[in-house]
Amino acid sequence: MHFSKITAGLKPMSNKPIGIFDSGLGGLTVLREIHRMMPGEDLVYFGDSRRAPYGTKSKETIIRFAFQDIRFLLEKDVRAVVIACNTVSSNALAEIIEEFDIPLIEVLTPGSEAGAKASANGRIGVIGTQATIGSNAYPEKIKKIRADAEVFQKSCPLFVPLVEEGKDLWNHRITELIAARYLSAFNGTDIDVLILGCTHYPLLYNVIQKTAGRGVRLIDSAQSVAARLGTLDGVGPHGTGEKGNISIYTSDSPEKFKPLCSEILGIDDVSVAQVDIEKY
Ligand code: DGL
Repeated sequence: MHFSKITAGLKPMSNKPIGIFDSGLGGLTVLREIHRMMPGEDLVYFGDSRRAPYGTKSKETIIRFAFQDIRFLLEKDVRAVVIACNTVSSNALAEIIEEFDIPLIEVLTPGSEAGAKASANGRIGVIGTQATIGSNAYPEKIKKIRADAEVFQKSCPLFVPLVEEGKDLWNHRITELIAARYLSAFNGTDIDVLILGCTHYPLLYNVIQKTAGRGVRLIDSAQSVAARLGTLDGVGPHGTGEKGNISIYTSDSPEKFKPLCSEILGIDDVSVAQVDIEKY
C-alpha cells in the first residue's frame, strides 16, 4: 500500500503537543524526562503494549508498526515525534524519515554521544533488544563519534517482558539472576560505561547497576533526548507557565497500563485510553 508523505498539519506549532511512542512502558522513561525539563508542554504518548515486544520482530514488522504509531500521533496533531524506542530508532529510522515530514528525535544518537563522552578508557558496553543489537547501529554510531572506542554488545530479550509484567519484578531476585547471566558477557572486557540501549531498561536500573558493579557507569539516554528536543528548531519549549497535559494511549487494556504509568511518572491520576492501532 502506498501512503503519500504525511506532514504535521497547519495549526500554529506552539499550540501543538509533542508526540512520543514506544512498544509499551519503556518510552515513559523518556516522557518523564521531557516532562521534567519542559513541564509546560502538552505530551501525547502511545505505548503499543498489545504488540510488544518489538525487539523480537523482523525489520519489516518494526517499520510497519512504527508507521502506524506515528500516523496515530499525527492524528493527535503533534508538532514533533520522539521515537522513544531503540528498536525502532535502529531498524526503521531511514524509512520513517522518507515517509513522514515532521521533526523527529530518535534515542540512539543521544545515547551514543553520552556513552562515548562518559567513557574514560573507550571500552563501551551496550545492551538492547535482539533487533537493536542485531542492527549493529550502536557500534557504528559510537565509532563515528569516537574512533578509538571499542564496543561490546549483548542482547537481553527477557528484560522487556519482565518490565511489562509489572513492578513486582523490577527489583526481584529472578531479574537479578537473569541480569547476572546476560551481563556475564562483559566479563573480561573492562568496560567502564554500559549504555542502556532500550528505554525499558532504566526501570531495571538498580538491578543492572548492582550486577554491572560500581566501576561501570550506566547511561540512560532519556536526559540527552529531552535536552536535544528542547533545542530543536521550532519544537523547543512553548509552555505558557501552566503545567502541560499528559495524554496516554495504549493498544491493550488501560486497566493494566494505567497503574504502571502512574508508578513510572509519579503522578496519581493519569488518563489512559485504548486505541485500535491496526486502523492506522
Ligand atoms: N523500549 C524499546 C526499545 O527501546 C522496545 C523494546 C521492545 O519492545 O522489545 O528498544
